[in-house]
Amino acid sequence: MGMDSTGHDWYHIDRVRKLALYIAKCEGQGDLFVIEMASLLHDISDEKLNSSLEEGKNKLRSFIQSLSLSTPQASAIIDIIENISFKGGNESTLHTFEQMAVRDADRLDAIGAIGIARAFAYGGKKGQLLYDPNLHSRENMTIQEYRTGKSSTVHHFYEKLLLLKDKMLTNTGKQIALERHQYLETFLKQFFKEWNGDYEVNN
Ligand code: ADP
Ligand code: NI
Repeated sequence: MGMDSTGHDWYHIDRVRKLALYIAKCEGQGDLFVIEMASLLHDISDEKLNSSLEEGKNKLRSFIQSLSLSTPQASAIIDIIENISFKGGNESTLHTFEQMAVRDADRLDAIGAIGIARAFAYGGKKGQLLYDPNLHSRENMTIQEYRTGKSSTVHHFYEKLLLLKDKMLTNTGKQIALERHQYLETFLKQFFKEWNGDYEVNN
């Protein structure tokens, strides 16, 4: 992951680890070892970073098996990661506190100043425009837009990033998300002000 430039580099992993541990400590619950291990390994099996879902799953499982963990610890760690990386998974399957802490931490890193930086880094890597005023929002997409999966990074804010605040599962996560969400709103306001270039000459 050291070389990844789509937002999953080592520093993302390290931030998620620190945030997840912080959430657990504030809430006074959770197995800190399981939370830390799951944070460190949470992107290893991500479908985007492997040639298939199966390959990602195997990579994670064989690594975990190579460690001397107890069976409950190993399966708790695998459960958290599989819930996080296999998108489209049912949110209601997130039931342990450890799962919620790591999930919130990963989502918090997608908002706020760091979240903005990651989104534009990802968009650049994928060849997306910063913003494309001609693209429709997800609800109003044309079939052509849907098929080509064309988006812009500012569209990603509306499709995902602005929705994350209401998806936080822990109280600490909710609190941190509020501040970061406001930062996204402020950024977008300024972005559109500059984009529209509404400057008046006052002389
Ligand atoms: P996670 O770290 O939860 O696995 P993703 O893999 O979905 O997150 O995305 C990694 C980073 O790339 C996040 O910061 C996310 O906002 C950003 N990202 C994902 N899809 C897009 C997109 N279409 N446009 C811009 N940024 C994106
Ligand atoms: Ni992540």
